[in-house]
Amino acid sequence: MSEAEQYSLFDQSAFSQSKPADFQAELIPTDAKVPIPPSTYDSMELLATHCNSCQRCELGAKRTHAVVGRGNLNAPIMIIGEAPGQNEDETGKPFVGKAGQLLEKILAAVKLNSEQDVYICNMVKCRPPANRTPTSQEVEACKPYLLEQIRLVDPKIILFTGATALKGLTGEKRGITKIRGEWREWQGRLCMAIFHPAYLLRNSSREKGSPKWLMWQDIQQVRAKLDEF
Ligand code: URA
Repeated sequence: MSEAEQYSLFDQSAFSQSKPADFQAELIPTDAKVPIPPSTYDSMELLATHCNSCQRCELGAKRTHAVVGRGNLNAPIMIIGEAPGQNEDETGKPFVGKAGQLLEKILAAVKLNSEQDVYICNMVKCRPPANRTPTSQEVEACKPYLLEQIRLVDPKIILFTGATALKGLTGEKRGITKIRGEWREWQGRLCMAIFHPAYLLRNSSREKGSPKWLMWQDIQQVRAKLDEF
């Protein structure tokens, strides 16, 4: 069998995404035009080192810490938020402020342990000034790191919490209210969009149909799906 025939037995897209011969990984954090091909990182540690020296967008200049992720690196569930806030920038850990505390409570309510069952990260790794929504340029500059995180963790279920991660990764333009709670497939992975905990903090009602009530329905679905695996 010729070499070309042997190659054709494999998925060609895997080859077309491979690294160019002159690929220099050390240039990644300096310029958003430098691609981050799949399989660039063998470990989350190296990815975190790059994030902490990253200047691919303007957010790098103001950060205290890049906020890469927390939880189990082999977790079955990955939760992707928007961007770090002040507490996260100071500690280097995602979802440690008020929204994070509520997220912990929501997970605990269905016996999900944030250290064991979940890996938590954000679409964008550095804090935007005054907690504004990250721009599409910031999202694009940071996205390859997130794609590598997804590849490394290889979760069974991805939860997009809030519209930024949902839109940034999948291109979905409909709002969270329209599509939360629906299972969808993205790049062969089972995903669901859920409300952002910060939104729940602003909407305290627990009445039937309220955001908190809907979140309770959604997280129970997630628990049930995990139990199926
Ligand atoms: N909101 C987010 O989306 N991410 C965090 O890490 C904290 C608050």
